[in-house]
Amino acid sequence: MGAEKRFFVKFKLMLMAILMVSMESSMAALHRVGGKLGWNPNVNYSEWSDHERFYVGDWLLFNFDKRYFNVLEVNETSYDNCNDQGFVKNITRGGRDVVELTQVRPYYFLSSGGYCYHGMKVAVNVEMLPPAPEPAPVKNGSLTSDDVSLKIFHYMISFAVAYYYLVLLF
Ligand SMILES: *[C@@H]1O[C@H](CO)[C@@H](O)[C@H](O)[C@H]1NC(C)=O
Ligand SMILES: *[C@@H]1O[C@H](CO)[C@@H](O)[C@H](O)[C@H]1NC(C)=O
Ligand SMILES: *[C@@H]1O[C@H](CO)[C@@H](O)[C@H](O)[C@H]1NC(C)=O
Ligand SMILES: *[C@@H]1O[C@H](CO)[C@@H](O)[C@H](O)[C@H]1NC(C)=O
Repeated sequence: MGAEKRFFVKFKLMLMAILMVSMESSMAALHRVGGKLGWNPNVNYSEWSDHERFYVGDWLLFNFDKRYFNVLEVNETSYDNCNDQGFVKNITRGGRDVVELTQVRPYYFLSSGGYCYHGMKVAVNVEMLPPAPEPAPVKNGSLTSDDVSLKIFHYMISFAVAYYYLVLLF
């Protein structure tokens, strides 16, 4: 009957949606800047970014206290000199702010208010997605708890979106 057919069409659409969302979340990575330390003074962000690989489509997450700190994208010279004037883009919103890395190039961020001089600057070099189907950086050790919580975060988003489709379609 018609109703049954419609049910199966909706069911297929839902499966496709789940598949698409889980594929998307397994490809793009969310990098929490500074790891557990977040976006704060006296953190060595070169050390942090040296241990990560950034690919086009990845996101950076800045966690900070917006009463004191902010996130501005700047050019290389401004990054080197801690110049917060004439920045490229103001990333600051509520203190849990994300920025998508859409281009293959280095990106530079700093906090104004003098905190750049206390280490609040980060440079990330964004690479093209490798041709191999496994874009995640190959680590010989086991997953860190940070990786695991990000994975769980991705899965939660996938399920939330899938649930949304479910409610929408039925
Ligand atoms: C941060 O770490 C890098 C690499 O470990 C080191 O070369 C650099 O001097 C450090 N920077 C500061 C400000 O300590
Ligand atoms: C970087 O930005 C600063 C501030 O806007 C500007 O004065 C400088 O010319 C820029 N440098 C380059 C190489 O674009
Ligand atoms: C950046 O944007 C935030 C939120 O819109 C705003 O409060 C802040 O003043 C801006 N900072 C600069 C330096 O423009
Ligand atoms: C991972 O590899 C690096 C160099 O490739 C090595 O120094 C390190 O000891 C290895 N770690 C583990 C847990 O095997």
